[in-house]
Amino acid sequence: MNDQVRIVEVSPRDGLQNEKAIVPAAVKVELIDRLGRTGLRTIEATSFVSPKWVPQLADAAEVFAAIDRRPGIAYPVLVPNETGYDRARAVGVEEIAVFTAASEAFNRKNINAGIDESLQRFAPVLERARVDGVRVRGYVSTVLGCPYQGEVALADVVRVARALHGMGCYEVSLGDTIGVGTPAKAAAMLRAVAAEVPMPALALHFHDTYGQALANVLACLDEGARVVDAAVAGTGGCPYARGASGNVATEDVVYMLHGMGMDTGIDLDALADTGRWLAARLGRQTGSRVGRATAPA
Ligand code: HMG
Ligand code: MG
Repeated sequence: MNDQVRIVEVSPRDGLQNEKAIVPAAVKVELIDRLGRTGLRTIEATSFVSPKWVPQLADAAEVFAAIDRRPGIAYPVLVPNETGYDRARAVGVEEIAVFTAASEAFNRKNINAGIDESLQRFAPVLERARVDGVRVRGYVSTVLGCPYQGEVALADVVRVARALHGMGCYEVSLGDTIGVGTPAKAAAMLRAVAAEVPMPALALHFHDTYGQALANVLACLDEGARVVDAAVAGTGGCPYARGASGNVATEDVVYMLHGMGMDTGIDLDALADTGRWLAARLGRQTGSRVGRATAPA
């Protein structure tokens, strides 16, 4: 069994986008640079969405231009449309992520478009990315439940994931946006998607609202998933998903993986330090259990 797991660190984007008080750009830059020294290979840096929709990330260009981009690390950013693509490319972005959902109702709240309309909106972005040699990740939100419509049909998750992969996304991240999933459901969802999209092209993106995220990750590792999105200090949440709370904490995922003999290439001590540092900047205790357990006295 392949025992290498790639972590996609999303704290600079997902972790901060829902913070009410504006985090200074300098703190965001320092966060990304600290993360870049922990062994992470993918760090989602920010989001070129409308600043009216997500004021916290209005400084995306300033932040991206200031980070110390290290060789061997990918710094994807969220892009919802061609305007976002133009803004991202103007500051040298080389990898983007487009995002939609398996729920029509959530998509209307989050991106002001239905599922098919969102896919149409991505088509020219993906075409330009292909020509420019820009790598594209795709997100499917609400894969295990929607705050507005409740149950989400597996067939809708599979359809949207297949569409994103078919349009050229090298990886499709499956988002339990509001953290309502449980392990057997998460595994069944992954199995259904993996029947249509190759497992190596799938990532897990689990929020921890109901305390199930780590268990859900484990269940999906058993199914063969090897890419996990996570955020240090358990930060995160989507402003347009009522009740969404933090992502699974990266420190907790890495501790579990290393304990199982799996390799992430990440220095857990440096990661936990960074998580505590970020929590202190946000004025709270770290949301990572490992971060708390290993805090200096
Ligand atoms: P809209 O209002 O329908 O867009 O929003 P529009 O095209 O009509 O434009 C409205 C205004 O925004 C115009 O400006 C545009 O120029 C401007 P005005 O003429 O009024 O001055 N605009 C932009 N400005 C900067 N950058 C842009 C941009 N686009 C338009 N890219 C839109 C549609 C998609 C833009 C909006 O709904 C939006 O930005 N939504 C983003 C919401 C968001 O970021 N949510 C969180 C990320 S998703 C998530 O967290 C889930 C995930 O973590 C996975 C999971 O957990 O499941 C990924
Ligand atoms: Mg998320």
